[in-house]
Amino acid sequence: MTSPFGALTDAPASFLLTGVRAVDPAARSDRVRDLAVVEGRIADGFGVPDGIPRLDGHGLVVAPGFCDLHTHLREPGMEGAETIASGSRAAAHGGFTTVCAMPNTDPPLDEAARVAWVVSLARGASTRVRVVAAATHGRAGEALTDVGDLAASGAVAISDDGAAILTARLARFALLAIGPLGLPLIEHAEDPTLASGTLMRSGPVATRLGLAGWAPSTELLIVERDIALAEETGGRLHLTHLSTAAALDAVRRAQDRGVRVTCDVTPHHLAMTDAWIAGDRGFSWEAPSDLVSDPFGQPLDARVAFDGACRVNPPLPAREDALALLRGVADGSIDAIATDHAPHPPERTLVEFAEAAPGMIGLETALSIGLAAVDAGCLSLAALLTALSTAPAALIGEERGLRPGTAADMVVFDPAGRWRVDRDTLASRSANTPLLGRELPGVVRLTVADGRVTFDEGMGLLV
Ligand code: DOR
Repeated sequence: MTSPFGALTDAPASFLLTGVRAVDPAARSDRVRDLAVVEGRIADGFGVPDGIPRLDGHGLVVAPGFCDLHTHLREPGMEGAETIASGSRAAAHGGFTTVCAMPNTDPPLDEAARVAWVVSLARGASTRVRVVAAATHGRAGEALTDVGDLAASGAVAISDDGAAILTARLARFALLAIGPLGLPLIEHAEDPTLASGTLMRSGPVATRLGLAGWAPSTELLIVERDIALAEETGGRLHLTHLSTAAALDAVRRAQDRGVRVTCDVTPHHLAMTDAWIAGDRGFSWEAPSDLVSDPFGQPLDARVAFDGACRVNPPLPAREDALALLRGVADGSIDAIATDHAPHPPERTLVEFAEAAPGMIGLETALSIGLAAVDAGCLSLAALLTALSTAPAALIGEERGLRPGTAADMVVFDPAGRWRVDRDTLASRSANTPLLGRELPGVVRLTVADGRVTFDEGMGLLV
């Protein structure tokens, strides 16, 4: 059987996709058309050579390739969970053509040589890999890294993700240092003194389960601190995986004042809620189950309650927060959907909830979760595709669009198709997601990165 995956080092592709719904947020266009790719570039309707493969695009959507601002590829150091090769295949399967590799590897990506090593290892991968370098040496929060060197070796942002920059003083210096370089500081907004010892979002479900609760102020304090610092220094701040309405309100107020602040949210903070830890499996936009409306009256579902795969940082939100975040994506005050794809091996997630490593995989389910929100009427398809493609790409200086003459960088998917999330359908080396066994809408059929086919599900281009 041929592999469904191609690589960025393959020959450029040529094909004609007929009758496809082309959604191009950059051009604000959404229409059914034929779209040709000739030797890796989007062609206008003329001069399409005879004999190039014709693909039936009826019922399919083509959009610019997705860009994930927040991916844990785990290499070097944790290759049992993921590698650059396996993570990039998961990305291509999810429709991503770029992922930004986070620096909390072992050793961390805090030196130019390590950044260059990841960039070179990713050359033949199934997706472009850009690097987010560590903001402080060893991510220890004591001394800033050499951001000029890191940028020169290819880093597109800095972050101590997994934790916030430890002190306001360092965060201020980081913003001053990156200012002239134009790179963003990607901040994991979490006050360590408030987060310490907590296991899930505070609220009635945490109370019922008897788990120490993470209060919204844990996020808000760092968000407000860093907004003040960005405003004062002029440095670019990007707040990642926002999980509370309070933090989003603070961002909106800062954006209104002209502060250089952008933000993203994960698919799981949009769709899942703290009730998932009690065994609920309804998406945030569905009517809350008895587990939430009557938290003390219902027995827990023993098959799924306390699933270690539901432990994430920041923790799964209260339902009102998830719905507020969805509105933020819909109105554009949240710039991007970023996966925080966080693979962990079974021995770190199939354990007691309090022992589980925080994080879940997300590259292969992001589009499907987004489409479920679109089907539920919470989001327009254009807003979803903007948040997955053009907006995050712009934040790291990449262009996206379906304009003739540009390099083909796109995803083709069947919005009405359905697939089941299980070990065999996932390309990731890890399967830590509470969506395992679930059927979801949206099947990616083709991913083309920089003119090369990187994923092909039955379109017949990779033979
Ligand atoms: O849930 C998370 N997992 N949040 C983070 O910030 C880090 C990540 C990881 O690296 O596993």
